[in-house]
Amino acid sequence: MTSLDKGLDTESSPAHAAAEIAAAAENLVKVYGSGDTQVKALDGVSADFAKGEFTAIMGPSGSGKSTLMHCLAGLDVASSGEVRIGDTALTGLNDKQMTALRRDRIGFVFQAFNLVPTLTALENITLPLDIAGRKADQEWLDTVVKRLGLADRLSHRPTELSGGQQQRVACARALVGKPEIIFGDEPTGNLDSHSSGEVLSILRASVDEFGQTVVIVTHDPRAASYADRVVFLADGRIVDELRDPTQDSVLDRMKALEGR
Ligand SMILES: Nc1ncnc2c1ncn2[C@@H]1O[C@H](COP(=O)(O)OP(=O)(O)OP(=O)(O)O)[C@@H](O)[C@H]1O
Ligand SMILES: [Mg+2]
Repeated sequence: MTSLDKGLDTESSPAHAAAEIAAAAENLVKVYGSGDTQVKALDGVSADFAKGEFTAIMGPSGSGKSTLMHCLAGLDVASSGEVRIGDTALTGLNDKQMTALRRDRIGFVFQAFNLVPTLTALENITLPLDIAGRKADQEWLDTVVKRLGLADRLSHRPTELSGGQQQRVACARALVGKPEIIFGDEPTGNLDSHSSGEVLSILRASVDEFGQTVVIVTHDPRAASYADRVVFLADGRIVDELRDPTQDSVLDRMKALEGR
């Protein structure tokens, strides 16, 4: 079954999806360094990310958001605790299995865009598919490229693109293979409000139209308002959660947390 089929499958409609977990963290602890310089970036984080749901992770600088994303996406290993992508426990995987899982099931948009400088924008976008020996769904590729405003930049190399354009290329690359789950660490961090809106609405569409799961880190209440749920981190712990957020409700909650 392709991801598209899954997206159209009525069994995966939100009413049924409640029990289906796309990713889970169970009592995650991440300690960096040792002795006096030791930092506990994650201090026992447990969270489920339901299939077909868009979650935003918010919290002060240094609260552990990027660390959590990196552990969830299999880019970093927690000191203790467990991460699952679907039914797959990441701790049980060898390097080769981990690489395959990241390649086939996960899309990333991170702040360091990791574009390959010698490839054009289009080649960068289709690179994960090319490596996996899969072909892009041309219609979806066209849609993504158009909606992210990249149609006339496809033959440019990353150095010939602005920071915001590079970020949109990274976003297109994460979306085009329709992975089960997309992680974004401040995917709209460098974008003006128009481009930012385009990125968020296409992430929203990947959830609503294809049943994919999206988890992003953001500092922006407007970006968070595109999500179904906001999870608030402070000092490496989940301290609050909000369903069906609006800009105002997110701002209120942020203020309340700052005043703790
Ligand atoms: N490689 C590392 N070595 C040592 N400490 C680290 C490392 N990476 C992160 N940290 C520390 O772990 C804590 C959490 O960092 P993290 O990057 O997860 O925060 P964040 O919530 O993403 O912050 P920001 O909003 O500024 O991006 C911070 O105190 C940070 O200094
Ligand atoms: Mg961060």
